[in-house]
Amino acid sequence: MRSVQAVILAAGSGTRMKSAIPKVLHPICGRPMIAYALDVAAALGVKQPVVIVGDAAEQIQPHLSKGAKLVIQKQPLGTGDALLCARKALAGCSGDLVILYADTPLLRRTTVQRLLEAHHRANATCTLLTATLADPTGYGRIVREAAGEIAGGVEEAEANQTQRAIREINVGPIVVKAPALFEALAAVGPSQTAKKEWYLTHAIGLIAKQPAAKVQAIRVEHANEALGINTRVELVRAMGIIRQRILESHLGSGVTILDPHTTYIDHGVMIGQDTVVHPGSVIESGVTIGRRCTIGPYARLRRGVMVEDDAHIGNFVELVRTTIGRNVRIHHVSYLGDTTVEDDVNIGAGTITANFDGTDKQPTTIGKGAFIGCDTILVAPVRIGSGAVTGAGSVIPKGHDVPNRGVVVGVPARPLEKSAEQIIGAPAAKSREIGKAALSRGKPKARVAVKRPVQVPAPARARGGPGKEPARKAARLARTRNSKPSKRKATRRR
Ligand code: UD1
Ligand code: MG
Repeated sequence: MRSVQAVILAAGSGTRMKSAIPKVLHPICGRPMIAYALDVAAALGVKQPVVIVGDAAEQIQPHLSKGAKLVIQKQPLGTGDALLCARKALAGCSGDLVILYADTPLLRRTTVQRLLEAHHRANATCTLLTATLADPTGYGRIVREAAGEIAGGVEEAEANQTQRAIREINVGPIVVKAPALFEALAAVGPSQTAKKEWYLTHAIGLIAKQPAAKVQAIRVEHANEALGINTRVELVRAMGIIRQRILESHLGSGVTILDPHTTYIDHGVMIGQDTVVHPGSVIESGVTIGRRCTIGPYARLRRGVMVEDDAHIGNFVELVRTTIGRNVRIHHVSYLGDTTVEDDVNIGAGTITANFDGTDKQPTTIGKGAFIGCDTILVAPVRIGSGAVTGAGSVIPKGHDVPNRGVVVGVPARPLEKSAEQIIGAPAAKSREIGKAALSRGKPKARVAVKRPVQVPAPARARGGPGKEPARKAARLARTRNSKPSKRKATRRR
């Protein structure tokens, strides 16, 4: 493919969005609208696209690709005027220009590649992309001669009755020989509409009038690619279509999504084969999930989350900037932020990391095979050692790291004179295997060790509150409740 230069128009005022946010920065599936046009330019091999922006230059700049050249259009006087502003930046370009609108995010890169190929094949002066819509309201219409050649474009605001009835519309992207474009733009005057804008589409009409020029069009394959975003209604429609494309690409690569209607997966999420995503789940950009995981229902995985193979993230679990090791279970109603969870950990229902100290986010680490009791609050920064156990309802204060295989209970959590094995019978990973084996035999046994943390008597002490119950009494109470009755029970059930 011959080399081309790309220009992205992003300087419009976006008044129809009724927003303080520049139109092209409205997010669609986890990235700003303009990112889609930048992707198309990159797919064409353009390393330094020229991006035309208006008074939101400062806000837009951080979202541009590295090599992008910024051009400022001081006033949004129309798409034709925007290109004239870029004339200097494009002075070295004597070949073809690909013009892209930053507000048509549904356009597929393959479509623009097809547009470029058609342009080169025909050695055309200008090649447009058009679509035939059932309802063309709002779009510029394509005017053709009786023989079918393109005569130019007419915008809705200036179209007469007959022209408004035309259903073939201008999608936006154009490939055009740069000298022909600038010659035509110099001759374009302001539109006869209330806004008095300089229209790029008028320049196409002028090029078409040149006897030696060849102006042609190709059509989009799917009409939805033509959707231009000018209002919030169109924005939401575009989100729905892009979301569907993302879901289909995961389904196509071996991920089960049980209910695509209620599952929201952003652009730039990686999910391994045989992972099952349950209804109501929201997975944001940049999240990576391994193979054979279960996500949801109603899980929210935010930025910076990495989940390794065979992990279970259950109902109403929120994770952010967190790494989840292999075979970890977080089945219900928990929040982990800035946390590293090593392999084989079990996180009980209602576990919360208090990761924000009012100024900064603080880290939590949960070591391999640890067993976090229901309703544990981990005040970061804190580390829970490998194979350690926290009792139900315990609060682990910041900096009070729990040693490997340590057992803590209560509010604030205090060490219990028992080993992790005495509490949960075996390291968490092993207990789960016992549990699984029992279930697979069809008769779950009372000895299934994973059940035992329920016997930790933290709630009793939690009711007493910190300092109200002497520690020795608490430990004694814990010993009596933990050892004898559980042994008796286990024997009985056996
Ligand atoms: C434009 C086309 C119309 C087409 C439709 C497809 C023109 C005159 N009209 O209409 O034929 O059917 O898109 O969606 O081109 N922009 C600037 N500077 C400006 C004005 C706009 O950079 O002064 C940028 C906008 O940020 C936007 C793009 O150009 O990305 C299109 O502008 P917009 O105002 O949305 O044009 P439409 O009315 O949608
Ligand atoms: Mg538009």
